[in-house]
Amino acid sequence: GTPASSQPETVTVTIDGQALAVPTGTSIMRAASLGGTAIPKLCATDTLKAYGSCRVCLVEIDGRAGTPASCTTPVADGMIVRTQSERLSKLRRGVMELYASDHPMEALATVEAQTEFREVMDAVGLEEIRYKPQATHLECPQDVSNPYFAFDPAKCIVCSRCVRACDEIQGTFALTLSGRGFQAHVSASQDESFLQSECVSCGACVQACPTGALQEKAVAEIGLPEHSVVTTCAYCGVGCAFKAE
Ligand code: FES
Repeated sequence: GTPASSQPETVTVTIDGQALAVPTGTSIMRAASLGGTAIPKLCATDTLKAYGSCRVCLVEIDGRAGTPASCTTPVADGMIVRTQSERLSKLRRGVMELYASDHPMEALATVEAQTEFREVMDAVGLEEIRYKPQATHLECPQDVSNPYFAFDPAKCIVCSRCVRACDEIQGTFALTLSGRGFQAHVSASQDESFLQSECVSCGACVQACPTGALQEKAVAEIGLPEHSVVTTCAYCGVGCAFKAE
């Protein structure tokens, strides 16, 4: 037979001085959020599998060197975690500054830029961007082939949330990450347009995007609805948002 697991079902972890009992295997980010502490994050969401790419969610752990990503690091019994310190603030601001420096400035300044990306910039206290854009993707053309949404690679930070949403929520696998480093980009199937790709226009990617790189055309044209009603059906489970008058 299979040997019984020696792992306890719950572990106790201390986060910013607060002791919490959480299920074994819980990420530090999730444990913190169960205790009411929101760790800044960009590539993680509450529903998608952790990916650990953006390095915004760094924390300090007693007795451990470095600053691991809290979204991919599981808690361990007796672990003592700090989610806030001078060093962490500096690191998070530094990471966000690099992303922002590679972002179209006008996209950060407009009202429609009330994106999650902008919120995280504010949350980590990033006010000044000292670097010039490095990447060639700022000149990449937009893909407006899909009738419902557009993709602007200039605003993409390659967090892969759209790719994971397509895979994990919709099960369509229409999006991939191609290239490395500054060349890394999201592409629909084999660098086809969204319209030619396997995309079924479910909107899961648009909803997952934290920067507005993927945006509904209606939002780009008439702005964000002041109130909206989300309905879901058996087809996609993502929901359609309607502007409520
Ligand atoms: Fe953890 Fe991005 S949120 S690395």
